[in-house]
This record gives sequence, structure tokens and C-alpha cells, in this order.
Amino acid sequence: MRDSQPRQEIKASRLGSGGFFVLVVSGQGCPRHENGFEQAEEFEMEKKKKVTILEIGAMKQAGEKITMITAYDYPFAKVVDDAGIDIILVGDSVGTVIQGVPNTLPVTMDEMIYHTRMVARARERALVVFDLPFMSYQASLEQAKQNAGRALKEANAEAVKLEGGANMAETISAIVNIDIPVMGHIGLTPQSVHRLGGFKVQGKDEGTRKKLLEDARAVEEAGAFAVVLELVPAEVAKEITEMLSIPTIGIGAGIHCDGQVLVLHDLLGLYPARKLKMVKQYANLYEESRKAVEQFCKEVKEKKFPGPEHSF
Ligand code: KIV
Repeated sequence: MRDSQPRQEIKASRLGSGGFFVLVVSGQGCPRHENGFEQAEEFEMEKKKKVTILEIGAMKQAGEKITMITAYDYPFAKVVDDAGIDIILVGDSVGTVIQGVPNTLPVTMDEMIYHTRMVARARERALVVFDLPFMSYQASLEQAKQNAGRALKEANAEAVKLEGGANMAETISAIVNIDIPVMGHIGLTPQSVHRLGGFKVQGKDEGTRKKLLEDARAVEEAGAFAVVLELVPAEVAKEITEMLSIPTIGIGAGIHCDGQVLVLHDLLGLYPARKLKMVKQYANLYEESRKAVEQFCKEVKEKKFPGPEHSF
């Protein structure tokens, strides 16, 4: 039986930095469930507004900070999407934080597709960006277009990221010209670790500062919708952020960037040994996880698990 005489008020409003739309339906006429469960007279239904590259650009114009985080699988992608993150980056950092290799160079296109597919299945609101791995776009424009296409077609990403400044301008344009959004990445570019001689802060002297500014301009002119600034002095990042009309997303680049990105496993404290100055650890999941597994081992050894409630 449904209640008659609906008297409902529907309001929609935009809430906070998460950008959620909240639809509030209230009034005495709210329907009752057929089986007798009465629904609340006033309830809230959160409807997530999908983030696109247009919202990312608009956030810079509105002075709203952009949040980006990495994820590599379904459960963590669900966690970060539900938490209201704006952009999920399926980073080639998958090499260092998931595969246990010392740098990102061995990561392949097929591995990135495998991980991005899982992430994309959990995505409801966030923009999913596919990080093009080493040697998937450097060899030729044709190679870059083919692989950027695979990221969208096979992995269900919505944009790709690639490393490099003026040297990659043509590649960025070629991909953007086939309607695939590109995020740039300058400063410390981990795929260039051997040329850079290690993971070092970039743009500390006048020459390299100027080069960074040139790179930033080239990436914007080539058509990128945003650019990551990695390990750049805060003042240089500020100058770039003020100079560009596209958003800058910083990691180890200070407070003035339009947005911030962290590697999820660093933020969650899954690697106690990996201490990086640019990271703030918001949880200690390594410790929590280890304790939980120790407790399981103990209870099995002591014949306390499974209990009657876990048995059939
Ligand atoms: O691969 C990655 O996780 C990245 C971020 C650190 C920006 O490129």
C-alpha cells in the first residue's frame, strides 16, 4: 500500500569541496514500502556529480583546490571515490608500491591496462587518469596515439598523463588532437631518473627554474588540461601556477599549486620504511594490517577461530 496525498519538497544543493549534489526529499507524502517498512519522512539521497576535465578547469577559476590520489585496484578505488576525491591517477608508481620494483621503468602498457580496468569499475564520480608508462609514448607520435587510445578503449580511463615538458609538446598535441585529454607532468619526472641522476628536487637554480617555466608553458600550449609539478621549490611552483591558465597539481611542490596529489600507499602508511619529506601519512595501515593478521594466527593456533558463529 502506498501513502496517498504526496506532499513533498525537493531541494538540490551543492555541498562542500567534495562537489556532491544532495537531493533532499521531504514531507508527509513520502512513500511507504509495500512490506510495511515506513520510509523516513525526511531523507537525503546523495547523488554524485561526475568530475570531467571541465570541472577540473573550473575549480582553478573558482579557487577551489583539486584533490588527486593514486589507486591501482577496485577496493581502494572505491574507498577514494567514496571519499570524494576529484581525480584518481592510476600511476606508474604501481611499479614501486605494488610490484616491489625500485623505479617505474619496468611497468608495461598491459599492466597499466589491467590495473586501470579495476579502478574504472569502482569509479562513480572521480576522473580516472591513466599514466602512460615508460616507452609507451616516447618512440613515435603514432605509438603515443595508439597507446593513449588503448587507455580509453581497453581500460575505460578518461584521460592520460605523460611525463615531459617542451620535448613532449608535439606528443601532447597529437594525443589531444584525437580528442584524448592529456595531463602533463614536469619537474622530477621519475621515468627520467637515470638522466636526472636520482630523485632530486628540480628548478633550484636560475637556469633550471627558467627551463621549468618554459616546460610549463609548452605543456599548456600543447593542449594539456592540467599539469603535475613534482619536487619543485614552492616559490617556483607558485610562479608556474600564477602563469598558467590550466591547473597545477603538486607533489612536493608546496601549498600554492591548484591541487595536490599523493601516492595512496604513502598516505595510508602501508610502507613504514618509505619515509619521504613530501608525504603526510594520514594512517598507519601497515601496523593495523600486521596486528590483524597476528591476531588471526593467534586465534587459529589457540583454537578460538572459527567460533560457533562462523560455523555451519
Ligand atoms: O605514478 C605516480 O604515482 C605519479 C604521481 C606521483 C604524480 O606520477
